[in-house]
Amino acid sequence: MPDPTLLTGRVLRVLDNPFDAPPEDALKIEDKWGLLIEAGRISDLGPAEQMRMAYPVATEIAYGSDLICPGFIDAHVHFPQTAIIASWGKRLIDWLNSYTFPEEMRFGDPAYAAEIAARYFDLVTAHGTTTVCSFCTIHPDSVDAFFTEAQARNMRVVGGKTCMDRNAPEGLRDTAQTAYDDSKALLAKWHGVDRLSYAITPRFSPTSTPDQLQAMGALWAENPDCLMQTHLSEQTDEIAWVKSLFPEARDYLDTYEAHGLLGENGLYGHAIHLEPRERDRLREVGAALVHCPTSNTFIGSGLFDMNGLMDEGHRIGLATDTGGGSSFSMLRTMAAAYEIGQLRGTPLHAAQLIWLATAGSATALKLDRRVGALARGMEADLCVLDLSSTPAIAQRSARAEDSWEELFATIMMGDDRAVRATWVNGKVV
Ligand code: GUN
Ligand code: ZN
Repeated sequence: MPDPTLLTGRVLRVLDNPFDAPPEDALKIEDKWGLLIEAGRISDLGPAEQMRMAYPVATEIAYGSDLICPGFIDAHVHFPQTAIIASWGKRLIDWLNSYTFPEEMRFGDPAYAAEIAARYFDLVTAHGTTTVCSFCTIHPDSVDAFFTEAQARNMRVVGGKTCMDRNAPEGLRDTAQTAYDDSKALLAKWHGVDRLSYAITPRFSPTSTPDQLQAMGALWAENPDCLMQTHLSEQTDEIAWVKSLFPEARDYLDTYEAHGLLGENGLYGHAIHLEPRERDRLREVGAALVHCPTSNTFIGSGLFDMNGLMDEGHRIGLATDTGGGSSFSMLRTMAAAYEIGQLRGTPLHAAQLIWLATAGSATALKLDRRVGALARGMEADLCVLDLSSTPAIAQRSARAEDSWEELFATIMMGDDRAVRATWVNGKVV
């Protein structure tokens, strides 16, 4: 790739949060703009004609009417569930026992873990996703496979060893002590190396004893700059189970809070059926929630309260939750978020949807000073969208009255065919 490179086309700019400001003021689609990419970063941007004059030595890559966006950021995934995506007919607990745990068991084999990690990153980059935050399995080798593959691709990713010491099959359980020791060693090995960050990862309260939650809380207290990711209030059966396992807890969140697992670097996946106290506490501490819409409809979990939680001031990211979610595509995920908004009577604007998949997820992951927006100094992770990628989309976008309407057709109907190019760290994948 020649350096510097000038990418020209339509450019998506994030100026503000589209849940606070009017969406079309917060984000702008600039026609005939350019981005200057140097040494893996965006060093300048502006109208294409001015950029050509200012940087005559730059090699131009002309994307025409394609839309240059920040690379998509998938804030909650399980890369080990790649091969069991779209498994039929079960709700959460049965789905875990029937499909997920048997598959995760296979990651005791490092060769299988490496094979799936490579397959997973091929799939997500083909869908325009450049950053993911992943659960691995209980096996340290699965974490090594995930980070080794991401590192080879220069990707900015977050991941961690999933910890479980009860209510999981033999062969898929650690202990409070081994979870602490293995997580600590993996954190020391990978956190802050190249573009990689470690997240402390207790799966969810039902699969951890209080001792294990306490050990995870202790590790987090020793490494407070690390993210901590888990699941919260996804299905009503799960919540009843948590109540029976932790009779003394005030609510589901309290099972984390009581063990040092509630904080501003905490990421709580799903967060659908929250009680008022839980909403208040999550907001008070500044924790992040992660909305996983295709998963919530696929596993039959419920309807996330995006607008209500945004109005209360929560930080919220968007995610596929592969393979509970039914797609690797953040376009499909935005479409599902729109559909859930409709079922709640609060349709989301295209600018809000694309913000959630980029700057919103970056903010949830505390990576917003590095990725998730196209601005000077940001890392050059990009997704270039063809807004007429299929006959069905092309005929609809031909009718569009503005760029937002055009983008909305691709959000609702687009897939990996809409992804013209994915750039990671200043290079085309
Ligand atoms: N809750 C605990 N583990 C999981 C998982 O792997 N997927 C989903 N969707 N929910 C979970
Ligand atoms: Zn999950």
